[in-house]
Amino acid sequence: MNKRQNTYQEVLQQAVALADTDAIAYMANIAALLHSQFSFWWVGFYRVKADVLVLGPFQGPLACTRIGFGKGVCGTAWKSKHTIVVPDVDQFEGHIACSSLSKSEIVVPILQNNEVMAVLDIDSEYPNAFDEEDAVYLEQLAAVMARHIHFEQ
Ligand code: SME
Repeated sequence: MNKRQNTYQEVLQQAVALADTDAIAYMANIAALLHSQFSFWWVGFYRVKADVLVLGPFQGPLACTRIGFGKGVCGTAWKSKHTIVVPDVDQFEGHIACSSLSKSEIVVPILQNNEVMAVLDIDSEYPNAFDEEDAVYLEQLAAVMARHIHFEQ
């Protein structure tokens, strides 16, 4: 197992230990955990509130607060219900640039009963920072979170 795989395994174990039914509390700790373990540029959550994604707990620079359905990478992941890996944000049509320093991104939806409740968004200041392996581990993390969180709409 390489270093990144090892770190993801630790993150998954800690995510179980940190589990909290309160969505904000749990997301806040997971954002802090991922940010400290991987030194990502920006790690955070957007919650589905009616017809828009609203900024939730995050670690990193200021971010836009609302993203529409199908808009940007986050809104596209919400609409498609699938993880989106963006190796180069300039190549993703409609990408919403909260920070000009962000170069690549991954967005993972958190689903309950096949409905997207929130998305996990991670940005890197380096291009090509995320691949299929990140997607697999982060989807496992999203599944752990979905099992524990009570989302209030
Ligand atoms: N880039 C995202 C917006 C959120 S920020 O990166 C924090 C998007 O296109 O949806």
